[in-house]
Amino acid sequence: ATPPSQQPAPHPTGPESPYLRVCRGLPSDRVPVWFMRQAGRSLPEYRAVRRDVGMLESCRRPELVTEITLQPVRRYGVDAAIFFSDIVVPLEAVGLDLDIVAGTGPVIAEPIRTRADLDRLPELHPEQLGHIGEAVRLLVAELGPTPLIGFAGAPFTLASYLVEGGPSRDLLRTKALAHGDPQLWNDLLARLAQISGAFLRAQVQAGASAVQLFDSWVGALSAADYRRLVAPHSAAALAAVADLGVPRTHFGTATGELLADMAAPDGSACVDVLGVDFRIPLDEGARRARAGAGRPVAVQGNLDPALLFAPADVLTEAVRGVLAAGDRTPGHVFNLGHGVPPTADPDVLQRVVDEVHAWVPARRET
Ligand code: CP3
Repeated sequence: ATPPSQQPAPHPTGPESPYLRVCRGLPSDRVPVWFMRQAGRSLPEYRAVRRDVGMLESCRRPELVTEITLQPVRRYGVDAAIFFSDIVVPLEAVGLDLDIVAGTGPVIAEPIRTRADLDRLPELHPEQLGHIGEAVRLLVAELGPTPLIGFAGAPFTLASYLVEGGPSRDLLRTKALAHGDPQLWNDLLARLAQISGAFLRAQVQAGASAVQLFDSWVGALSAADYRRLVAPHSAAALAAVADLGVPRTHFGTATGELLADMAAPDGSACVDVLGVDFRIPLDEGARRARAGAGRPVAVQGNLDPALLFAPADVLTEAVRGVLAAGDRTPGHVFNLGHGVPPTADPDVLQRVVDEVHAWVPARRET
């Protein structure tokens, strides 16, 4: 028999990863933490490597994707990496003319608003994601024990960019289309669910250990409209990786009234972790998730990113408040309620990571 010292290391993202343990509903000896947008403009090392490279161009270069994804892991010791890319990358892969404008966001050259426009949005085939698979494989090899989270934009949030042509505060055209031409809307969201699902699947097949579906702007809808116009399509995107066995997180902002439905889109039990933004307490989010799913669901969140700019003692109190609420849930992945603001101080984020890791989580009933 091989002596213990010479046995291969346990599978890098195996049962010892605190992030994956919590996602799977298992106890963990520490609260895992990562940040949405942990890679990005708040890091000087990110600004340095992005100086002469556009956002979409950087997503096309596997070595650069690997370096940028690793930066926050090296710096902070977070419990998970998130693949550096963007929700519009798979839309570009199917041939749509779009750009990501710094300070604005995704801009679509010709918005999609009619049946004829929808013909410009073909299905996504795995061969179109060769560079994504290559980047994920490089990354997983470099990451060692830290799990990689793959992600995609949810059909509604992607549709909001396509229909509006860019970022929009109130999504008037998007909601007008959803209500005014439900058939076109359903066909558009079904196509986007296929694209999101294929993007998630490519990342998991190349080695990502978990996925997160970002429905950032879905809080613009009522719960009734969410159930009717969106939930089946988000469920379809998540179902694309069902057979691959990775935990699935579902996230949106301003979703307090939608959490029960987001925990079980289309009645399917396909969400392992529910993202909660800072507008409601984490334990209240967990109660709503349980009510929707009919079983305990772990939660992720939910420090208000604005607290990163508060005095140190105020921030510490707020972080501990989130951790205490997390102890009253079936499982807690610490995160912000939304992404890291570009002006955040990395030293402050480091203090948050250290504070979270110093917390001894309460033992939960299983
Ligand atoms: O979280 C991470 O670190 C992983 C990488 C990631 C990016 N975008 C990189 C990015 C992820 C997961 C996303 C998802 C994304 N993109 C979402 C969902 C998450 C959320 O924030 O709600 C959305 C809505 C988008 C669309 C988008 N892309 C916006 C609104 C912006 C910001 C525009 C700006 O400059 O203010 C982008 C651009 C973008 N995506 C940047 C990064 C690091 C900034 C571009 C740059 O550095 O030049």
